[in-house]
Amino acid sequence: MAKKPQIFVTQQFPDAVMARVERDYDARLNDTGRVPDAEEIVSRTSGCDAIFCAPTEKFTADVIGRLPEGVRLIATFSVGVDHIDLAAAKARGIAVTNTPDVLTDATADITLLLILAAARRAYEGERMVREDRWVGWDPKMLMGIEVTGKRLGILGMGRIGQAVARRASGFSMEVHYHNRKRLPKDQEQGAIYHETADGLLPHCDFLSINAPATAENYHFLNQQRIALLPDGAVVVNTARGTLVDDDALIAALKSGKIAAAGLDVFEGEPRINPGYRNLENVFLLPHLGSATIETRNAMGFKCLDNLDAFFAGRPLPDRLV
Ligand code: DGY
Repeated sequence: MAKKPQIFVTQQFPDAVMARVERDYDARLNDTGRVPDAEEIVSRTSGCDAIFCAPTEKFTADVIGRLPEGVRLIATFSVGVDHIDLAAAKARGIAVTNTPDVLTDATADITLLLILAAARRAYEGERMVREDRWVGWDPKMLMGIEVTGKRLGILGMGRIGQAVARRASGFSMEVHYHNRKRLPKDQEQGAIYHETADGLLPHCDFLSINAPATAENYHFLNQQRIALLPDGAVVVNTARGTLVDDDALIAALKSGKIAAAGLDVFEGEPRINPGYRNLENVFLLPHLGSATIETRNAMGFKCLDNLDAFFAGRPLPDRLV
């Protein structure tokens, strides 16, 4: 029987995915229950041909430079690749694949969840009921912001941004967007394009951040950009925490300049800026964008499809470098 390729699997992925891993690969598993750090990644990949990783593992240029010679592919269980230095991987001849498409709907769904939860004060309402502080229906209790018919600005009109726009049309929202490149007319779905991100912001009763994290958009939403939003705007982020300057957003949530926020991602997660914890007008989730059974299985199978193709000498379906 042919020798199975050796791979390092950095996390416990969903059961159906792990079953396929164990069937088809000589898999080195991580049963520590912890995210492997740089030293563990380097030492545990000794003798491996590929790595099946998650977005929590950091593949800096330093880590990539220290990977054993035999490692030729990093297949990440994520669409985002800001945890991998792609240039360093390319320079070492290591291929990198990700998981586009399959998480678009789940992530767009959770964007809408955040829009609604932030605008309709879901955190305050839920807590009131659980803590038995609800004394009865009240005409002025927890009045929120109407979502239907408002203007939604989408920063980053890739697959997920477009799926958010489709959902927003179900709420009769007027969609505005900024993207590095304007979409072809037939894909705009009536959304209004703004050439610059700063030009988009004054049109956002709601701002949804859906752009990939890059060095250029680090702390995109800072104090100056928040000032460009209409007073009382709502901000949601399902992309990456690094696009938001947390101190600036927290100050704006306290002053009321930003009425509410819905955040699924955080700079430095899982250690979030503690300033968010005591705010009533922010709805917080622990990076659940793609967390449905169907989507997480599909993401895992996509990683495995890429690994399978690699070891069969076929072109990689989701190759980035
Ligand atoms: C991704 O795929 O980049 C998500 O953030 C993890 O689901």
